[in-house]
Amino acid sequence: MSKARILVTRRWPEQVEAVLAERFDTTFNRDDRPMEQLALADALSRYDAVLPTVSDRLPAALFEGPKLSAKIIGNYGVGYNHIDVAAASAKGVVVTNTPGVLTDCTADIAMTLLLSVARRAGEGERQVRSDTWSGWRPTHMIGTKVTGKTLGIIGFGRIGKALAKRCHFGFDMDVVFYNRSRVDSAVAMQYGARQLNSIEEVLAAADFVSLHCPGGGENSNLINAARLSAMKPTAFLINTARGDVIDETALIAALSNGKIAGAGLDVYAAEPHVPERLLAMDNVVLLPHLGSATAETRTAMGMKVVDNVTAFFEGREPPNRVA
Ligand code: DGY
Repeated sequence: MSKARILVTRRWPEQVEAVLAERFDTTFNRDDRPMEQLALADALSRYDAVLPTVSDRLPAALFEGPKLSAKIIGNYGVGYNHIDVAAASAKGVVVTNTPGVLTDCTADIAMTLLLSVARRAGEGERQVRSDTWSGWRPTHMIGTKVTGKTLGIIGFGRIGKALAKRCHFGFDMDVVFYNRSRVDSAVAMQYGARQLNSIEEVLAAADFVSLHCPGGGENSNLINAARLSAMKPTAFLINTARGDVIDETALIAALSNGKIAGAGLDVYAAEPHVPERLLAMDNVVLLPHLGSATAETRTAMGMKVVDNVTAFFEGREPPNRVA
């Protein structure tokens, strides 16, 4: 039997590319340039499977062409709001993702941002590197104490829980969260957390608000001007979820007007573009979408895609099917 024809849209960890090359008739993107819409449309009409990442956009229009040959989209990543899954499904295209394996590393990056923005680590590092540090003094670069404060989590899935665990058991923090569905209070307690009834209640209580809900759909601009105003003026906003969950213009205004104290961001609405005004602010810490970026996790993500696509072409149910 001939091997399934697979297109990988970006470079992946070497070990994973080796497995893909062995199992499938695989085409790799050797120079790692993001693919244009036309190239993605062409791929969907020529390959049995396309394996995209968050840097690819697969809107409905791409699935509407007359010559769709792709039968599965094996997304490299847990978030899949860059893929119109309803349009894919309507054309009988299966979509899979990679949950579980990036939980700890993404929670670690949220923790990194939380600590960095509270303790002014980015600012301090810039001072040392630019040789403008004049030495220790009692009033130098005073930050905000993290230990014992209140963390508010929006979205109590795997990553939200992992951050709650770090903050409650590592930093003695009181953890409150909002989640669309009810979480058993005994389960929440295992993470030292307590569910509140609305996003507004969480925003009003928290010294740090961390976003862990999916992007797109009704979560687009979930954190808008009104919700930013509902936060304490001393509070910090952390986002490792998706950029579109925050209204960036409203965030810039809230940061400039002192409505909130600062922000730690790993994701942006129009990546890799980061608004100029954020770049100019000292009370924000900005990372380039590093949540899952460890050798262990990126390999595990790739192997999850391999498992999904292998199961599909062997006629089994892919373990991480989302549509
Ligand atoms: C994810 O897995 O969703 C990461 O953000 C990378 O796409």
